[in-house]
Amino acid sequence: MSLRTVLITGGASGMGLATARRFAGAGHRVVIGDRDRAALDAAVATLGGGPGLLAVPVDVASPPACETLVERTIAAFGRLDVLVNCAGVWLEGPAEHVTEVDFDRVLAVNLKGTFFVCRTAIPHLVSSGGSIVNLASDAGLVGNAGASVYSASKGGVVLLSRALALELAPRGVRVNAVCPCDVATPMIEFQAAAYGGGDPGRYKADLLARYPQKGRARFATPEEIAEFIYYLASELAAPITGAAIPIDFGLTAGY
Ligand SMILES: NC(=O)c1ccc[n+]([C@@H]2O[C@H](COP(=O)([O-])OP(=O)(O)OC[C@H]3O[C@@H](n4cnc5c(N)ncnc54)[C@H](O)[C@@H]3O)[C@@H](O)[C@H]2O)c1
Repeated sequence: MSLRTVLITGGASGMGLATARRFAGAGHRVVIGDRDRAALDAAVATLGGGPGLLAVPVDVASPPACETLVERTIAAFGRLDVLVNCAGVWLEGPAEHVTEVDFDRVLAVNLKGTFFVCRTAIPHLVSSGGSIVNLASDAGLVGNAGASVYSASKGGVVLLSRALALELAPRGVRVNAVCPCDVATPMIEFQAAAYGGGDPGRYKADLLARYPQKGRARFATPEEIAEFIYYLASELAAPITGAAIPIDFGLTAGY
């Protein structure tokens, strides 16, 4: 792949960090935006720093902050070729217990944030002939019982990505969504700790019990997802746009 400037939201952890490592390791310029400043500092250290890496504190729930993130990318590197929207938050529990504050927070980060980073990035991606990869989820393709608001946010990311793909195709920009199953990241650890009823191991075992592999099931790794994102951003993936691609061991293939 020719030298790219890659902006990754949620780049301080999990799949965002693995994606940053994949692109940085191949010599590309990488910008990681994240609201967790301590995690950003740690990410810069693990990625090795250097002039090709920029870390920007940002809360993607704020559209002006999304604009600043893209502006800082352009100020630092002069162009933007690849946007990867990984920033996201999880919420689960019975719908009757969901508050308006919870609803607004999940939609603001997962859907509104994704949209406003895309919106600001569009002119720069048109200039570079670039592409967008949005992190949706298996829960954006099929309903996830007990996670209605998260599912709604990720279903929104899937159709946002498809609609943007059609809108931007005449201007040479590709847009895709990836839909991973459970991935071994801090988000899963948070889920198990916050919603596991004091037994995180059981929570994770219950997740894995849903997979077609049964006793052989495992979580995907962030590196496996990052490799696919890297491919989607490459010239080899030129025919792929408007796709929402499951990476899920067959979890959403049927029953
Ligand atoms: N882990 C999974 O099983 C899984 C599965 C499918 C989809 N996803 C989605 O993939 C994406 C990455 O998830 P992950 O597992 O790597 O999670 P993670 O928790 O490891 O990383 C998410 C990052 O997003 C950042 N973030 C959260 N809210 C933000 C905000 N308002 N502004 C800026 N940054 C913010 C966090 O600080 C964190 O660094 C998310 O969108 C998630 O919903 C995760």
